[in-house]
Amino acid sequence: MKTRWYKDAVFYQIYPRSFCDSNGDGIGDIQGIISKLDYLKELGINAVWLSPVYASPNDDNGYDISDYKAINPEFGTLEDWKQMVAGMHERGIRLVMDLVVNHTSDEHFWFRESRKSKDNPYRDYYIWRKGRGKDGKKPPNNWTSRFTGSAWKYDAATDEWYLHLFSEKQPDLNWDNPKVRKEVIDICNYWLSMGVDGFRCDVITYISKAEGLPMGKFNPVMCGDEHFVLGPHIHEYLNEINRESWSKYDTMIVGEAIGCKVGDAASIIAEEKNELDSAITFELMEVDMKLNFFPVKLRLPKFKKVISAWQNLPPSCWNTLYLENHDQPRSVSRYGNGAGIYRKELAKMLAVTLHFLRGTPYVYQGQEIGMTNIALKEEEYIDIMATRIFTIIRKVFPPLMPLARWAMSKRARDHARTPMQWSGRPGAGFTTGKPWMKINPNHVDINVENEKKNPSSVLNFYKKLISLRLGNQILRDGSYKEYFPKNRSLFVYERALGKQRYIVICNFKEKNVNLNAIDMGARGAELVLSNYKDAPKAFTDGQTLRPYEARVYLQIK
Ligand code: NOJ
Repeated sequence: MKTRWYKDAVFYQIYPRSFCDSNGDGIGDIQGIISKLDYLKELGINAVWLSPVYASPNDDNGYDISDYKAINPEFGTLEDWKQMVAGMHERGIRLVMDLVVNHTSDEHFWFRESRKSKDNPYRDYYIWRKGRGKDGKKPPNNWTSRFTGSAWKYDAATDEWYLHLFSEKQPDLNWDNPKVRKEVIDICNYWLSMGVDGFRCDVITYISKAEGLPMGKFNPVMCGDEHFVLGPHIHEYLNEINRESWSKYDTMIVGEAIGCKVGDAASIIAEEKNELDSAITFELMEVDMKLNFFPVKLRLPKFKKVISAWQNLPPSCWNTLYLENHDQPRSVSRYGNGAGIYRKELAKMLAVTLHFLRGTPYVYQGQEIGMTNIALKEEEYIDIMATRIFTIIRKVFPPLMPLARWAMSKRARDHARTPMQWSGRPGAGFTTGKPWMKINPNHVDINVENEKKNPSSVLNFYKKLISLRLGNQILRDGSYKEYFPKNRSLFVYERALGKQRYIVICNFKEKNVNLNAIDMGARGAELVLSNYKDAPKAFTDGQTLRPYEARVYLQIK
């Protein structure tokens, strides 16, 4: 029986490498997570999305899996993992694991076999083709890897090329092979039988490729999308796993849905489809970012328009709400002046913006204390995306390097992956050893220890917000309506159910902004939450919102 528990959940995403290191090797681990379960309980969240902890050579930090049933020894053992799940469940916290099955690592047994010979039983687990041109020296088509360059790698052993939509060490699985789908079902059942509550399916919208792998429309960075985003058999394949695995447990399945537009959503997440329960979509991220890494100016009306479009999905669809994860920069640095004196107000305002919407909110580790982007020198970036971009630009057109450095200082994935800031001491309470990645020097001020002590901290605001949200029927089931869509500074919306409605007002500017709210008919509504101490207790038609101010009013008719 599916209870759809996720509709009453607030998620916390853990990126294990950077969360907490228990053994001083500089890498976060499962015992580190266990040591912070009480912290998560106190924060009030009731579900965790755990980024991959499986065996992996770490070309893409765990998103390249070499054994789906084994725990990466850097993180601990299966026994540690079992202790972690038990600890979560004892505290009423569900666990959703990452499921990365568009591709494996090239070090996975299946791929090692597959590349041996054309008649190997595992050959068809992957997508192999002959090269183009008379001498076969050109890749089979022009699709590009999401990490730059061709999506094909030549393999001399069999004189063929294999497809990799991410790095060369992440060969794409061939989902048209029923044996591959059986393996995926088996992996899901393995973890579900051990108590996992669901999966976050990595780039799941890419699994079905168009027959014949046709050439893509010209695009130097993202070529081929039209042939594999929500490809021809996606619904059939998701339906099959759902039937054979996910639906046998009380799961939540959230799919990372790159390329899925609001118009496609119902086809993949509507309840009656029995495919995914919800989707992590990218339209909001694309409002101020092009080509996956290039920053463009945030235009609030566009930002609100995307949110409103997703909020207005048919009732049988459910949203995933996020502003941060391990692939996105820190929201206080992205949507405002995270380095300024209003950082805390900004962090709280963004939290309000997100947590009053319809859907399941996700808090990414560190977001709850307002962690910021980090200033890195070119050689300090570690992530495959930034390092590949630098390498290619240096090779192809060096004069663009300053622009590349600027883009990475704003959008690199590294910003989200700096170690969690638990304290102001050396190692930030994350590790006693040498951290695998640079710790943000601002941990001396921005850290959990300080935040716990300060009643008006970002952390304490998050606690209040989460407890207000959980079990709140208006926020779960209420309707959504946006006001003043053209306003370039304020995001104003309501959530209403029966005789009650919340009115949410968020100022995205670092200056005072006036609101004329006479048309809202909300005069006298009562203030229930604000990120400033002295916000007016009753709603008035004319209001002045201070820098990054957020006010939430409740009206009972
Ligand atoms: C999406 C993941 O979130 C990202 O970190 C990863 O690099 C790609 N998928 C490839 O697995």
